[in-house]
Amino acid sequence: MNILVTGGAGFIGSHTLIELYKAGHTAVVVDNLSNSNPVALQRVAEIIGVPEIPFYKVDIRDREGLEKVLAEHRCDACIHFAGLKAVGESVEKPWEYYENNIGGTLTLVDVMRRHGCKNIIFSSSATVYGDPAEIPITENCPKGQCTNPYGWTKSMLEQVLMDIQKADPEWNVVLLRYFNPVGAHASGRIGENPNGIPNNLMPYITQVAVGKRQELGVFGNDYPTPDGTGVRDYIHVVDLATAHVAALKVFSEQCSVLSEAGANQLNTKHLALNTTHIYNIGTGHGYSVLDMVKAFVRVNGVDVPYSIKPRRAGDIATCYCNPAKAKAELGWEAKYGIDDMVRDSWNWQRQNPEGYSE
Ligand code: NAD
Ligand code: UD1
Repeated sequence: MNILVTGGAGFIGSHTLIELYKAGHTAVVVDNLSNSNPVALQRVAEIIGVPEIPFYKVDIRDREGLEKVLAEHRCDACIHFAGLKAVGESVEKPWEYYENNIGGTLTLVDVMRRHGCKNIIFSSSATVYGDPAEIPITENCPKGQCTNPYGWTKSMLEQVLMDIQKADPEWNVVLLRYFNPVGAHASGRIGENPNGIPNNLMPYITQVAVGKRQELGVFGNDYPTPDGTGVRDYIHVVDLATAHVAALKVFSEQCSVLSEAGANQLNTKHLALNTTHIYNIGTGHGYSVLDMVKAFVRVNGVDVPYSIKPRRAGDIATCYCNPAKAKAELGWEAKYGIDDMVRDSWNWQRQNPEGYSE
């Protein structure tokens, strides 16, 4: 398939491009580069072994810009990563977050349908579960109260896309609820490149390890968890990337079922028609903050000084998923473990201490 990849220059998008090409797909990238660097796309092309990835510096809120891209490139589906994602910033700038994430997605979906492209995979997040009603979290767990505007954009966009699918069954909508992506491509050529002080745990750890920050603050050690620190479902970004390739099967399967083509080459069991497909994308294992720090030090042989700080507002104690549905329906499961995650995060950081900007 030829895939429109919005936000393809970003952390998860760049890794997904590699897996798409490896699986025989091609891509067209649209990104406004508000949180990314085009060098990432050059490196992706090098890794794949193609001269370049078709790229348009277009904002998804720019209807004309998107129209041009879709007029020039016939796309079978869109993987929609583009969006702002900094939780703290979303509290300071709610309008900007709603306008960019929700406004941008509404424009994107409208342009897609005008061009007859009605297959979309949307980057959702475990954040839609709020403080989850059950652990491990299944897709049947009710959505919860988000603690910030970023989270609400994900929760609201899930609803928007489900309603669009319900009203027009020609749409195929896949919502992937990511848990905590970490790691980097094994080459160390692409990885996570946060602006300023990282909010998330793994980039903070790697920046301490490389000497850019003095010590890690561990946000609370009095949670009801085995060692008192927060537990999360960390997933290697390459596993997350392959989940998108696996999710494309939903579109081929729906098409083959709809056209009654019969000879379905896919291994997936038949999926329900006329519904939005929702999957948790995690490993199903929960690791604490201190588990991550200890694994990082053990595997990489570098020191990560830390001290215990107060809890961070809005944090929950434990969040990990049951990823069985993705395995049963998409044939996907995570392959990488915690040692791979900390090794590859470090490999990227030490090869690129200033990210893409050096
Ligand atoms: P990222 O910031 O690295 O990538 C997002 C990309 O979208 C960036 O390249 C940015 O320049 C681009 N972008 C933003 N607004 C745009 C717009 N209006 N028009 C065009 N391009 C735009 O983030 P990521 O970590 O790769 O995340 C990708 C998606 O996954 C996001 O939607 C994010 O909310 C979601 N997600 C991420 C995480 C995570 O922890 N990284 C977890 C759950 C969900
Ligand atoms: C973050 C986002 C959430 C998103 C999720 C998945 C915030 C507040 N929330 O949540 O919206 O869906 O990622 O990508 O950013 N920690 C420290 N010290 C640090 C950083 C983190 O101790 O410097 C701890 C946190 O308290 C938490 C764990 O590490 O227990 C993971 O934190 P983080 O990487 O920010 O992810 P989430 O809190 O799961």
